Amino acid sequence: MLDIYTLGEEVLREKTEKITVFDNALAIFVDAMFETMAEADGIGLAAPQVGVLKRLFVVDTHRPGERMVFINPEIIETSQEQGLYEEGCLSIPGMYYDIVRPLEITIQAQDLSGKAFVKHIGGTLARVVQHENDHLNGILFIDRMDEEAREKLVASYNRRNKKRKK
Ligand code: NI
Repeated sequence: MLDIYTLGEEVLREKTEKITVFDNALAIFVDAMFETMAEADGIGLAAPQVGVLKRLFVVDTHRPGERMVFINPEIIETSQEQGLYEEGCLSIPGMYYDIVRPLEITIQAQDLSGKAFVKHIGGTLARVVQHENDHLNGILFIDRMDEEAREKLVASYNRRNKKRKK
């Protein structure tokens, strides 16, 4: 199990580096990420959330074929059509908000062996992938809220956490 970093910790805001070595250590790390995500009941987890500044995330929407790792991903196309969908984040536990994003995307990435692939996706998977891809650029879903709503959410998150620590 890996530790998940939460809102306020600098590592969530830092730059990430491309992965260049596709070895056994990487496979072991990806396994640990899948395990940590499942344990936390998440459907996506990006490397910076576990303190690793590399361009990698895992997703599992619990639909067939949607348990995947994306390494060095690049969103190369987004649909004009956008939609609202409630997002949460393992790094901001307990908080949810409707976020606007493109409904469909085309993404290119590498798999665990380093092999490049291109995928056109929609639905929940497109949503999760965009959210996780943001993490690789130090962006959290709250950054996509308007300022007033964000301040409210963060204040209520901080209040909860204070209570928890007492
Ligand atoms: Ni997240």
